[in-house]
Amino acid sequence: MNSITLHLPDSLGIQTPKGRLPREAELQKSIETLHNATGAGNDFLGWLHLPSSLSRETLADIEQTADRLRNRCEVVVVVGIGGSYLGAKAVLEALTPSFAFLDAEGNAPLMLYAGHHLSQDYLSELCRALTGRSFGLIHISKSGTTTEPALAFRILRKQLEEAVGREEARERIVAVTDARRGALKTLAQQEGYKTFVIPDDVGGRFSVFTPAGLLPIATGGVSVDDLIKGAAEMERLTGIDLPVAENIAVCYAAARNELYAQGKKIEILANFHPKLHYIGEWWKQLFGESEGKEHKGIFPAAVDLTTDLHSLGQWIQEGERILFETFLSVETPSHHLLTPADPENLDGLNFLAGKPVDEINKMAEWGTRLAHSDGGVPNLRIVIPELTPRYLGQLLYFFEKACAVSGYLLGVNPFDQPGVEAYKKNMFALLDKPGYEKESLAIRARIR
Ligand code: PA5
Repeated sequence: MNSITLHLPDSLGIQTPKGRLPREAELQKSIETLHNATGAGNDFLGWLHLPSSLSRETLADIEQTADRLRNRCEVVVVVGIGGSYLGAKAVLEALTPSFAFLDAEGNAPLMLYAGHHLSQDYLSELCRALTGRSFGLIHISKSGTTTEPALAFRILRKQLEEAVGREEARERIVAVTDARRGALKTLAQQEGYKTFVIPDDVGGRFSVFTPAGLLPIATGGVSVDDLIKGAAEMERLTGIDLPVAENIAVCYAAARNELYAQGKKIEILANFHPKLHYIGEWWKQLFGESEGKEHKGIFPAAVDLTTDLHSLGQWIQEGERILFETFLSVETPSHHLLTPADPENLDGLNFLAGKPVDEINKMAEWGTRLAHSDGGVPNLRIVIPELTPRYLGQLLYFFEKACAVSGYLLGVNPFDQPGVEAYKKNMFALLDKPGYEKESLAIRARIR
């Protein structure tokens, strides 16, 4: 079976397949802890077998709802934050044409995003851009109470209802939320919005294969069937029945923890294709929220290359030696483009004439990997055969599995995020939210 592959530096002594891994018993224990649901956060393991267990009915319902939005709307705004928008955005950016927004004839609606920050200017400009256009809303919030998306939804829903009336607005709004609780659930029930459920046992950052990811992905024109097929393949390829040395999710988790133990505190996910920028954003959220706790954890960063070689490249090559890198390589590009010859050769580029641009990109990638490695930044490499829904499904599931194993190796609960509450508490106190009276007094005394 074709699949994404993992390549590890020899210096780690981790060889796959069938090689020896350091701390093999510990690795075996961490995957057993995950699969046997005996570890911390074991009530959030619904994502583990999600790809192989999604029902035909759920997928058909998602496709039908996506079709309805596509037929009614030229723009669909996905309203959500963190795990409630990053997976969909990552897949759509990677798999849809970069300049689709210029293509008036395109048959997928333009997908825009809101509720992932609190910028007044962004929301104002979005409202202005939507004026006079047929638009719909997919509001995604598992808790149904997150301030950023709730506020954006309030503003956009008002604009939609004023533009098309409450009745038609109901046809263009879909809610993706908890099965029972939360303000969004109550509102959706009252208004009769089409609703999808994020299962109780799936946390936001592991929700890309629930309707939270799949509905916007299908609406944006990407095959969720193929995405799920790829994810289900990776579910099998990283199962508990495999020896850990053949399990690429375990090997990646092992390599990361080994490097962390050697003082490499920052992992940089590096891509050579701008379409993969949001894969980096999704990955940062997945690993950052899962591992950064109890004053431990690798800090996940991401770079777009070769762009960032002209900025952060200097730091990576010669700054403090606390980094390692994971390169995302795409084997075969989706398009052909050869460098043209130029009889005058004033730019001196005729040595490249006839070469595919991708070959030049790949030589930049090789050159970078070797340069960074020589400079003391070890690198791992994940090879994606092509940018297709199937391989993206494999990649996202691979990262989810590796993240869970890695969290257990590190000794933290990969499925909670207690630290996220601190800023919310202060913000609510500063905004005089009812119930925060004591905190309001205390915080105001601090900022006087
Ligand atoms: O991974 C997580 O749990 C978080 O990033 C959430 O996805 C994010 O905070 C949004 O939460 P909600 O979907 O409840 O609005």
